[in-house]
Amino acid sequence: MRIMSVFGTRPEAIKMCPLVLELQKHAEIDSIVCLTGQHKEMLQQVMDAFHVKADYNLNIMRPKQTLSTIISDILLGMDSVLEEAKPDIVLVHGDTSTSFAAALAAFNHHIPVGHVEAGLRTFNKLSPFPEELNRTLTARIADYHFAPTINNKNNLSNEGVTSGVYVTGNTVIDSFKTTVQENHVYRDAQLNDVIQSDKRIVLITAHRRENWGKPLENICNAILSLAKRYPDYVFVYPVHLNPIVRETVFPILGAQQNIMLLDPLDVIDMHNLMSHSYLVMTDSGGLQEEAPAFGIPVLVLRTETERPEAVEAGTVKVVGVEYDDIMREAIELIDNPSSYEKMAHAVNPYGDGKASIRIVDHLLTDLKK
Ligand code: UD1
Ligand code: UDP
Repeated sequence: MRIMSVFGTRPEAIKMCPLVLELQKHAEIDSIVCLTGQHKEMLQQVMDAFHVKADYNLNIMRPKQTLSTIISDILLGMDSVLEEAKPDIVLVHGDTSTSFAAALAAFNHHIPVGHVEAGLRTFNKLSPFPEELNRTLTARIADYHFAPTINNKNNLSNEGVTSGVYVTGNTVIDSFKTTVQENHVYRDAQLNDVIQSDKRIVLITAHRRENWGKPLENICNAILSLAKRYPDYVFVYPVHLNPIVRETVFPILGAQQNIMLLDPLDVIDMHNLMSHSYLVMTDSGGLQEEAPAFGIPVLVLRTETERPEAVEAGTVKVVGVEYDDIMREAIELIDNPSSYEKMAHAVNPYGDGKASIRIVDHLLTDLKK
């Protein structure tokens, strides 16, 4: 049984590598990995961390690539890969342009598709952009849908997608087995000093397309004001390699002494740093799943979320992208211990670290039918 996993960006790799490692354990499975290369350095960091090797790499990344170039390059590139490898099924992940394009390429070749992390929805086609449409379209194409939560399964069912849907948990929790280490020594040496200083760490990431421009400026201005207001806190922001993001972030935040602007962190450093942080402020999807598992409160720098589970559990709060709102909510958490304590409890609606095992079990059962 030949199973091809296709992924291309950092978050997909973090969530697909645990599944690839599980597929490799089964003698009856021939596991093949095809990278689209939508990301380059940020993807390689993850492959190295999990010691996963690619069989194919379309290497499509270009500086300031557009959604259309990503999708068309992947569609064309996948043609020859699928013709040569002839997989029995193609697995894609989540909501990136890679996910949608790889699923469509497989469909064009009459190859069944399994969608990992299926059923997340904001119900707003424009936010997150283009991810909400990517995952909705991928659901139309896919034959198997691996939904992290019951809520995700219900979203699919409301769209009429009822067959081949399985609730498995999220493979991001599986990834902690590889990444989270006691007494971790950080590859980025500055981080060892920060951890040893026992200063409170506010961990920040922001990169989303719908936040480019004014929203990201608001976010950065709020971070700068917070850093000035709380000089004993360290604000650590590993900045995405996208030049559009960096051109906004560095001029606003680059000169403040207690703000550390870093290059993207290796996922092992990132998960361990997160587990030692006081507060996470992010527009990322993955961090909303990870930080609650460590009991770290998350302020979501977006106007909505497709991950309501941790919001309902009280550890994640959607604060929007306006300067005043971000300031008010962050100050409340930092100044008011009871508000902080209410949010700071470990919650893990995303599974027990066995999502990959469940997905492989379902694949083995269904593909043998
Ligand atoms: C993509 C996904 C987004 C996901 C994010 C995770 C789409 C449309 N977007 O957005 O859903 O949240 O990845 O990070 O699929 N770059 C590098 N090196 C790298 C990676 C990126 O230099 O290793 C730069 C390149 O200039 C590239 C740019 O970043 O053109 C943008 O990358 P792209 O994948 O188009 O968009 P992301 O914002 O990363
Ligand atoms: N991450 C990382 N290094 C960083 C920033 C993020 O390893 O410098 C990890 C993070 O822990 C999470 C994933 O990357 O697992 C999130 O990716 P990203 O924010 O790029 O995408 P999203 O989740 O928003 O799609």
